[in-house]
Amino acid sequence: MTPLNPIRKVPAPAGYGAGDVLVVFGEVFGRGYVNGLIDAAEKAGMTVLYGTVGRRDAEGNLRPLTDAELAEKGHGPIINVPLEAGFDKEKGSDGLTLSDRLNALGKDWENGSLDMAAIEETRQKGEARFKASVAAFMAALKPHLPEGANVLFAHTMAGGIPASKRVLSVSNRVFKGTGARFQSSETYWNSPIGRACEISFEEVTARTLKHLVEGSAELRAEIEAKGGRVNYVAYGYHGTECLIDGSYQWQTYAPYLQGFAKMKLEDLAAEARATGVNVSVYNAPEILTNSSGVFVGVELPLYRLLNALDHEAESAPLSATVKANCAAKLTDGEAALARVQEILDTYHADPATQYMRVFENWPQHNTQEQMDIMLGSSAELRAMHKDSDDLMTSYLSQLVFTACGHIMLHQSWTADSAAYWMGHDVVSKTLGVTGLPG
Ligand SMILES: NC(=O)c1ccc[n+]([C@@H]2O[C@H](COP(=O)([O-])OP(=O)(O)OC[C@H]3O[C@@H](n4cnc5c(N)ncnc54)[C@H](O)[C@@H]3O)[C@@H](O)[C@H]2O)c1
Repeated sequence: MTPLNPIRKVPAPAGYGAGDVLVVFGEVFGRGYVNGLIDAAEKAGMTVLYGTVGRRDAEGNLRPLTDAELAEKGHGPIINVPLEAGFDKEKGSDGLTLSDRLNALGKDWENGSLDMAAIEETRQKGEARFKASVAAFMAALKPHLPEGANVLFAHTMAGGIPASKRVLSVSNRVFKGTGARFQSSETYWNSPIGRACEISFEEVTARTLKHLVEGSAELRAEIEAKGGRVNYVAYGYHGTECLIDGSYQWQTYAPYLQGFAKMKLEDLAAEARATGVNVSVYNAPEILTNSSGVFVGVELPLYRLLNALDHEAESAPLSATVKANCAAKLTDGEAALARVQEILDTYHADPATQYMRVFENWPQHNTQEQMDIMLGSSAELRAMHKDSDDLMTSYLSQLVFTACGHIMLHQSWTADSAAYWMGHDVVSKTLGVTGLPG
């Protein structure tokens, strides 16, 4: 496992400027992490080129965005080549998709069996399609790159949950089940569904980085021959250091089953780095986005950002504003912030959550007691809000992704490691330097 490697200082300004380009390898969604990187790139005067995962038509075929969909995205130029990765919709020679196979497991999902050779056949089909898309993406990208430009590629991709009713119903219990509805993530992971998910997650979350690095090799050589630099950043998750009881302590969400693929992502970055390519995975804090919404309770450590903002000299002057903005979202206003702190203190002191602080054992599975307190605390905190669509954690997420974007952009210029961690300390220090997002 990659050793914990936290970034402790706000990185020095990078050498990017006007004429340089940030390429988003993935699609941008409203609340997603990459928005912070885009902000940082625009502040540095860079041009941003966007990607898309494409869309599926009525027959299930992958297609580029239509003109209306392009206009709807409402941002700069999109390299309109569908970058959807994965293979759950690919048909094997028997005409079945992974989703069909998983649905066929029925109620016997724990003990049934899957045709692993057929799954490998469809994995290879999906991989071949994705590699062809990457080649088309690079060809379409090339004319957009100014002579001598430095180029930063941002890998945002994570996913791979097979589109299957069976997987959905069991996953719902794994991630949201408490009491009698509790479902052990370990049982799930060791079942045929878990095996299929492991392959599928790795394909989307991890191996897409390898395809990005390999698929851009020719373009990289051309850019470098003209004096430009080519750097790569990828978003990882591998727990976060938060301020608990006055010191920064590593903790994680559980059950983060994508964690196995995220470790593979770190390994692939290390392999690429060993061949001289500047690739780094930036393990980022837990925030609320379109993708993380399913992991109820993942947002709990985010409330701890208030502690870190107070603690760091650079961010302390911002702390009162952040607290006031948070308090404004709570029914009982500022008085309720003390209760928020109490809930977090109780959660982190509970014996059932202590195993989530052991870095070496990551990614941890769930337990009934842990899910009960994690989901219970999450629900109690949510209920304290005036409006469940206007959460403190949405605001805090914006602060985190803005700071992380700044860190990643600037660190990428002189990065020397395959995997970094961005904890609440450096996030707070960075906000002290950049100021709060407007
Ligand atoms: N939200 C968090 O708490 C958190 C924490 C640490 C790291 N991250 C990482 O940040 C990155 C961005 O996630 P986010 O939470 O901002 O959510 P998001 O929904 O904004 O982004 C998810 C990204 O994954 C891509 N994607 C999803 N399925 C795909 C597929 N089949 N093929 C290709 N691309 C696919 C989407 O295009 C999008 O760019 C991910 O790598 C995620 O693991 C998120």
